[in-house]
Amino acid sequence: MAALLIRSIVRHSKRPAATASATYSTSGGRGCTCTSEKLGGKVALITGGASGLGKATASEFIRHGARVVIVDSDEESGTKAAKELGAAAEFMRCDVTVETDIARAVETTVERHGKLDVMYNNAGIVGPMTPASISELDMREFENVMRINVTGVVSGIKHAAKVMIPAGSGCILCTSSVAGVIGGLAPHSYTISKFTIPGIVKSAASELCEHGVRINCISPSSVATPLTLHYLRKVFPTATEEKLRETIKGMGELKGAECEEADVAKAALYLASDDGKYVTGHNLVVDGGMTAFKIAGFPFPSDS
Ligand SMILES: NC(=O)c1ccc[n+]([C@@H]2O[C@H](COP(=O)([O-])OP(=O)(O)OC[C@H]3O[C@@H](n4cnc5c(N)ncnc54)[C@H](O)[C@@H]3O)[C@@H](O)[C@H]2O)c1
Repeated sequence: MAALLIRSIVRHSKRPAATASATYSTSGGRGCTCTSEKLGGKVALITGGASGLGKATASEFIRHGARVVIVDSDEESGTKAAKELGAAAEFMRCDVTVETDIARAVETTVERHGKLDVMYNNAGIVGPMTPASISELDMREFENVMRINVTGVVSGIKHAAKVMIPAGSGCILCTSSVAGVIGGLAPHSYTISKFTIPGIVKSAASELCEHGVRINCISPSSVATPLTLHYLRKVFPTATEEKLRETIKGMGELKGAECEEADVAKAALYLASDDGKYVTGHNLVVDGGMTAFKIAGFPFPSDS
């Protein structure tokens, strides 16, 4: 992430601030005027749903008629988020690194609501920003990131599959990242953890397709959530929050747009709803094209 930031700052200092004027920004998506409910009667469970992308997705799912069970290790934020989201939301404390917690969250959801239609394995952490060199990687820190970002996801898939396979339907989503598409954007542990997610999804899809269960992942670009702001603050401790948000906005390549929580929530809605009924094993990259190309910036020979 630090490398991405530095590259981004250098590039943006050389060109007009085109991304600042959003001509087709989704403005957080809260102005959605859609009336058709894409998830009417569905039951969804979202890990890491107390904050950021998980909370935004919970809100989008509820707007489309779903009941959402938010699970998170942060009890205070989770309770607050469920209250904010209204009667269609409820909170359950769950640490995704503890398999019995995940099993209990899935079982309780099915007991209360009779089924589980959508399981979104979204909880994640970045881990330490330093040391930058892999030669100094602290293996305990590495394992901690892998336990949350990878083992937690596999555990979520396992327990969702236990109820979705007998039901013969269901949709599982996982959050990867642009840092899992190209290297060098984030610390090694985070990058490695996020690269594994599309692989896990493909492996699980190969079996789950026989049971009518779909599984996909979403790879967002940087969004100004508490997670990103927290880690940026460590890199730029003296910068104001406004400056940090500007920096995150400046990371994109697509003129007139920036990656917002709502963009990820809408990608999740597409995959979770019948709109994505024939999509499985896929990694939906939501990055304004950032990982699709590299602007060469050749040192062209001069005429003289
Ligand atoms: N924000 C971004 O720029 C961005 C970009 C790409 C991918 N992602 C990924 O999106 C996901 C959500 O990130 P976010 O930006 O919304 O962060 P966030 O910090 O706002 O939310 C993450 C949530 O996960 C919870 N969590 C952490 N460890 C947990 C555990 N062991 N058990 C249960 N819950 C736990 C936290 O309490 C928090 O509520 C993460 O997997 C992250 O890696 C984020």
